[in-house]
Amino acid sequence: MEQPVVVSKEQNGQELFYPSPDVINAAWIKDYETLYRQSLEDPQGFWAERAEELEWFHKWDKVLDDSNPPFYKWFVGGKTNIVYNALDRHMHTYRKNKLALIWEGEPGDKRTYSYFALNREVCKFANVLRSMGVKKGDIVTIYLPRIPEQVIAMLACAKIGAPHSVVYGGFSVEALAERIEDAHSRVLITADGGWLRGKIVPLKEIADEAMSRQPTIEACIVVRRAGQDIYMEPGRDFWYHDLMSLPISSNSCPTEVMDAEDPLFILYTSGTTGRPKGVLHTHGGYMVYIYTTLKYVFDIKDEDRWWCAADPGWITGHSYIVYAPLLNGATSFMYEGAPNHPYPNRWWRMIEHYGITILYTAPTAIRGLMRYGDNWANRHDLSSLRLLGSVGEPINPEAWRWYYNVIGKRQCPIMDTWWQTETGGFMITPLPITPLKPGSATRPFFGIDVDVVDEHGRPTPNGEEGYLVIKKPWPGMLRTIYRDPERYKSQYWGKFGHLYQTGDSARKDQDGYIWVIGRMDDVIKVSGYRLGTAEVESALVSHPDVAEAAAIGLPHEIKGNAIHTYVILRAGVEKSDKLVEELRNHVAHEIGPIARPESITFMDSLPKTRSGKIMRRLLRARALGLPEGDISTLEE
Ligand code: PRX
Repeated sequence: MEQPVVVSKEQNGQELFYPSPDVINAAWIKDYETLYRQSLEDPQGFWAERAEELEWFHKWDKVLDDSNPPFYKWFVGGKTNIVYNALDRHMHTYRKNKLALIWEGEPGDKRTYSYFALNREVCKFANVLRSMGVKKGDIVTIYLPRIPEQVIAMLACAKIGAPHSVVYGGFSVEALAERIEDAHSRVLITADGGWLRGKIVPLKEIADEAMSRQPTIEACIVVRRAGQDIYMEPGRDFWYHDLMSLPISSNSCPTEVMDAEDPLFILYTSGTTGRPKGVLHTHGGYMVYIYTTLKYVFDIKDEDRWWCAADPGWITGHSYIVYAPLLNGATSFMYEGAPNHPYPNRWWRMIEHYGITILYTAPTAIRGLMRYGDNWANRHDLSSLRLLGSVGEPINPEAWRWYYNVIGKRQCPIMDTWWQTETGGFMITPLPITPLKPGSATRPFFGIDVDVVDEHGRPTPNGEEGYLVIKKPWPGMLRTIYRDPERYKSQYWGKFGHLYQTGDSARKDQDGYIWVIGRMDDVIKVSGYRLGTAEVESALVSHPDVAEAAAIGLPHEIKGNAIHTYVILRAGVEKSDKLVEELRNHVAHEIGPIARPESITFMDSLPKTRSGKIMRRLLRARALGLPEGDISTLEE
């Protein structure tokens, strides 16, 4: 008989959503409190036990080296390769013939890869890269749409010890060029195009322009995806399928033995100031961390079909599309295009068709689909789902309830996972057994010691807003900012010294639940994507008509935040609607469509401090009609 599996109770006026007995019975972890306590008392013991579940060419001598903070090292002396654990080791088990990846393109084309097939493609492409002179330590830039070759390229790089730098396919010319330049990449992997909302994104054209700005690229490998007629530069540009059919690309390729602390990838992300920074992650600690977090938080089992609906170009995709599902031997689903193409039931149709058991997505996507009403989802059988997930920004209770009621049919707990590019994997998150409060990412993961503190680093009382900090190192943490260790130190450890500063504000409640409020710095989360005000401003200023610019984030119903900008034009330039459009397009051309400003307001001056810093806080307050706060530092 059907039983009401989820009970919601009122506690201090707040609703709590409890998991059903089935969910609890299935869960890997049944007692959070005890294991959490143990993991904080002995984090090294906790992580060593998890690391033992994976394979090492040589075991570590020391779990944590904290002799030179904040440059922590994990599994010191250990030798491994994340690809050995993601692919090679499965070749000796039943998983060899299990599906690793199911993929659907936006036009409806489909592909599947068993672990065996994925390993074969990765070996072949790793041989191609080696034959092109890519060596351990060389950074390869990958700029691809959401297609299987993106996964293959990343794994092939990691296999031969070449760190990858993936640039999101939605980024554009300058964003790509500056990442190529910072990484000193000689090899770029791209495609003739990718599908989005029925149109082709001209990736190769964008790459050509970026390569002309940054001529360090010696070889550009092009995947044929869209069948576009594109320019191929003789001697520099090569078709992926041509290289893959050469005799050099044999089906076997030795996996490079890596030190646990060797870099696996750099991934550029926006910070408070200036250009994006290359967040660096390693083979050892990152591997152990994302393997464990996916296993426990989404309760991954062999029979699951996991769908992380992010893009491999962002950390969510790195960790939870590419590496962690494979480390867990799971079957992962990946979709190329837009959620509402050709109709708003696209996602729900695919969940039914493929029997997806876990869906992990972002609040912005949920809000976007929610506005089409319930019927699109109700037409489909979504009963294969057993867990749901959310990431990227705080989820508003309204979207939470819709996701829970309409998509999860009140049977699927929602794992609202708080984390960052820098943290590698989930940090504050429920487990399937956790009673949920809509809008709270609930409690810290095992081994993660978080707190909310005031200006002086002292814990704030419950209910009071403060800085969200992490008090102890963890294996998945970034090791540095590529080529800028000083920035790593000042950005994350500068304010409180011994506490990792997340840049977010939060509050704790009486049950120890954490409520993340949002960024406290000049980072804007647009549709869950992270952009810096400085990047948008510098894109605007690169236009010949612009003298100065300021960008701020303001609330937006679907996107969470939208970018609004204020521009001072150069003397003699006429203000016009046409110019507004031109500037919006210019930003989209330089950074990418996600950075296209919602509005541009022409100004004669910008509010600045006496030391010349733009007071974005004041611009926001004025735009929202809020009190202006302390303006004592405002220049006359
Ligand atoms: O502000 C927090 C927000 O996203 C930031 C990290 O962005 P990024 O490095 O791009 O990584 C996004 C995917 C992990 C955080 O500092 N954020 C992420 N997840 C949540 C969140 N805010 C609230 N709740 C979340 N679940």
